[in-house]
Amino acid sequence: MTSQRRGVLIVFEGLDRSGKSTQAKRLADFLNSQNEGSAVLQAFPERSEPFGQVIDRYLRREIDLSERALHLAFSANRWEKEQMIRDKIEQGIDVICDRYCYSGVAYSLAKGLDENWVRQSDIGLPRPDVVLFFEVSPEVARQRGGFGEERLETETIQQKVAKKMEELRADNWKSVNADGSYDDVELAVRKIYSEIDRTAPLTSLEK
Ligand code: TMP
Ligand code: MG
Repeated sequence: MTSQRRGVLIVFEGLDRSGKSTQAKRLADFLNSQNEGSAVLQAFPERSEPFGQVIDRYLRREIDLSERALHLAFSANRWEKEQMIRDKIEQGIDVICDRYCYSGVAYSLAKGLDENWVRQSDIGLPRPDVVLFFEVSPEVARQRGGFGEERLETETIQQKVAKKMEELRADNWKSVNADGSYDDVELAVRKIYSEIDRTAPLTSLEK
């Protein structure tokens, strides 16, 4: 039996307009250009899954949900992808997530939900090897254009989320200065990627 190295779980988090989706895609494209099939990109919410469809309809204002029901739908949407993530990593494939449970926690805390309650539903999901925290100055965010049309994309909510996200920082978080050019940020992301230690086994999110 050949022992192959495992894949890594890399999460991109940050506010809207921080460039995280662009950079998550660039990293996946780069890794696949080096070695076809070596990385997959997974956005959350994943709107094609059953819970993702409910979330999508909420965000596009087609249906209403209570805050707690919405929180659980976002979390359930991650559980819809849990086995896929674990399987890829075991097969040596890197999983690059555009948002993860940190968005889930930060958005719900920003709405005033209880922290212990909010964290429960993600316990047991794979814990990222690294969380790239995209930090963009308000001036640069403004230059990149206003927030979008969907629910939650208002300046007030974004400011509260920024504050909560700041408080979630842990030892597996790396800050990325997202004010730079796309090319500079891409190089910074690749450097962090190259430093990930994949010798230890993947762990799960704990309380
Ligand atoms: P998107 O713009 O990255 O597709 O995300 C849609 C919105 O969903 C965005 O405003 C962030 C929010 N969100 C949550 O509130 N909780 C979550 O768990 C996730 C993944 C996203
Ligand atoms: Mg959005």
